[in-house]
Amino acid sequence: MTFPKDLLSIADLNESQINDLLELAGTLKASRFDPSHPKPLTGKSIGILTSKPSLRTRLSFEVGLMELGAHSVFIKNDEVGLGQRESYNDVARVISRYFAAFIVRTHEHNGLLELAKHASIPIINALSDSEHPCQILADFLTIKERFGRLKGVKLCYVGDGNNVAVSLMLGSAITGIEFCLITPSGYEPPKAQVDRASSLAKKNASPLPNITNDLNLASTADILYTDVWISMGQDNSRERIKKDFDPYQINRQVSGNGRIPILHCLPAHRGEEITDEAFEDNANLIFDQAENRLHAQKALLLKILT
Ligand code: CP
Ligand code: NVA
Repeated sequence: MTFPKDLLSIADLNESQINDLLELAGTLKASRFDPSHPKPLTGKSIGILTSKPSLRTRLSFEVGLMELGAHSVFIKNDEVGLGQRESYNDVARVISRYFAAFIVRTHEHNGLLELAKHASIPIINALSDSEHPCQILADFLTIKERFGRLKGVKLCYVGDGNNVAVSLMLGSAITGIEFCLITPSGYEPPKAQVDRASSLAKKNASPLPNITNDLNLASTADILYTDVWISMGQDNSRERIKKDFDPYQINRQVSGNGRIPILHCLPAHRGEEITDEAFEDNANLIFDQAENRLHAQKALLLKILT
């Protein structure tokens, strides 16, 4: 099966590509400590550039690349000045002479599109202000491990209509997950992304995304998901945002006293989007989800690079 050159949005992949990738991720996970674990990226160098902090994304990519035989080079955007010190176009053509792929975490999603347009090597979105596709691959691997399938699972995301929410909504529309997003008024995902998810859902015969302010819907979920109320680089008007989100905190009442499992992409702000108790009820699942970043991204790199 062919894969696209770049992964900028989860919607760059179709349902078969996502399922194929998750299958491979499961195989890689099972054989991780096996001496026969494949190292097909031996001799390749991959660049990782970030203009925001990261724990999971950087480390899971670096460890994954090492386990596949590749070498990674990490650089902070302070040194590069993407689009400021140097144009996206020129940076894209320079990195294409050094690397087999380039993994980028940045604010500007349009900058990623520009890099991908001019680079001859794959560009992988390691989080932008619009999307977080690598996170969603790990989330779907975790959901598949839990329920044995994606199609028909009811996933309710409670929180800000941010990058993670958008990628979950698009990915659900592609894979047949029944997606609902519960958020206070004014924090819905951009209309263009909701429209995009709706047309993907129609094309794939998936349920339409349900965007609502009604927290009661959470009790109908097979699985809940939350993320920080204030994303990196968006910390204006903290007090107002916290007040708006206060009734939307995930706690034991929302999870039916622990009956409904909860995912969190991390980092978590306990006492804000999730209580300490609700987090700890689900700690095993949440740290499996964090571990799955490694396996899903190894599968992605293999699919894109080999
Ligand atoms: N979930 C996630 O992307 O974590 P980091 O920001 O630590 O990479
Ligand atoms: N929405 C969060 C996700 C962090 C992994 C952010 O962008 O900060």
